[in-house]
Amino acid sequence: MTKNTLSITDNRTGKSYEIEVKDGCIRAPDLRQIKLHPDDFGLISNDPAYMNTAACASSITYIDGEKSILRYRGYPIEELAEKSNFLECAYLLIYGELPTAAQLDVWITHIMRHTFFHENLVGIIQSFRYDAHPMGILISAMAALSTFHAEARNVEDPEVRERQIWRILGKLPTIAAFAYRVRIGRPYNYPDSSRGYTGNFLYMLDYMNEREYEVPEALSRALDVLFLLHADHEQNCSTATMRAVGSTRVDPYSAVAASAAALFGPLHGGANEAVLRMLEEIGSVAAVPKYIEGVKKEHKRLMGFGHRIYTSYDPRASIIKKVAYDVFEVTGTNPLIDVALELERIALQDEYFVEHKLYPNVDFYSGIILRAMRFPTDMFPVLFAIPRAAGWLAQWIEMLDDPEQKIARPRQVYTGPEQRSYVPLQNRLSAA
Ligand code: CMC
Repeated sequence: MTKNTLSITDNRTGKSYEIEVKDGCIRAPDLRQIKLHPDDFGLISNDPAYMNTAACASSITYIDGEKSILRYRGYPIEELAEKSNFLECAYLLIYGELPTAAQLDVWITHIMRHTFFHENLVGIIQSFRYDAHPMGILISAMAALSTFHAEARNVEDPEVRERQIWRILGKLPTIAAFAYRVRIGRPYNYPDSSRGYTGNFLYMLDYMNEREYEVPEALSRALDVLFLLHADHEQNCSTATMRAVGSTRVDPYSAVAASAAALFGPLHGGANEAVLRMLEEIGSVAAVPKYIEGVKKEHKRLMGFGHRIYTSYDPRASIIKKVAYDVFEVTGTNPLIDVALELERIALQDEYFVEHKLYPNVDFYSGIILRAMRFPTDMFPVLFAIPRAAGWLAQWIEMLDDPEQKIARPRQVYTGPEQRSYVPLQNRLSAA
């Protein structure tokens, strides 16, 4: 008879142990019983960068990296991208089920009602230098919001939590739009809820007193699909940050600010910005083979390629590639798309990229779409942070309600010196 257990023999002591296997996992605390002597702390597992460690059980997002599967609460991303929209998916991620028409209406109303913020926050955004990176502004403004909504610290109260979720999702586009407008020295456009989530965002960014101003429907829909695709991606670095920082029971604004800081890095949400800079550096289709050789020779990274989880095509990249063409219908084509297509073609048949299972990821095409929509390059990570907040908040709620979770506190393997005595300054040898 087969058993769902793992037998371990400790060759240091000759003792054997039987450890339960559940959902394809062993529980690391079960290793603690494996000791050299009764006072021994017990065995711990060492997993830098969490390459093979689950830190939670989650029912939000499912990914099968080999089969290119991504699902939110069981719904395939391809179906959601075609039939749903960002705010409906945000509801799905946070509450676990698709909303009824009435629930959706209430949800959208609450979020759009919370798009305004206190004028003092406008002053904070205004105080940045003209060349401040908008992600820096977003991170700071989000952290500052915790001082405007002191009740948010009461994270155990479900009603308080819900209100902060409306506020965060509502205010993020306004913060992003104001960060953009302050840098170009133009007056702010205050939110217009009647235009929908992405329509209002594009309006706040763009409107300049035109008499009959309309946001092209194709562009607000394209941005909505981009938002939907970026809404959650299970335990990525910024989401793990949300869970870790949130586990201290800090308010959600502070935790979202920390997550946004994690997202800012070029190996994470900063990658779409890095892709664009890379395509501009390559410059032309003819220069692509030389660039790829350079990547391999100098052990550089081809930005927008590779993923910790996907070992085949990132399903989001396939959807985004189609969206790119819808956007070009409105904006006209972009010469960088040809460079990107050639880069993808050559990389996909290159031995190095095939061997390392490196395929385009979500950021490879999103940068080109955002450029075609005339977003400045440094706004790209901001356009990742806005929708990812929905995932962060869904994971935050799940973490708070999970009786197994406690404050996140990894262990370490200490490799420093043994105890030694302090050496007075005058007795220390000067450094070589
Ligand atoms: N170009 C060239 N080689 C690469 C790349 C790349 N983009 N990505 C990984 N490799 C190589 C790497 O050099 C290593 O080779 P070797 O085993 O010979 O030393 C091997 O592939 C494994 O790389 P790794 O760094 O151990 O893989 P990882 O899982 O730690 O990194 C990654 C994942 C996404 C950080 C990485 O692929 C990367 O830096 N990609 C470029 C940045 C990027 O596009 N990031 C966006 C990720 S998708 C959106 C998001 O989730 O934020």
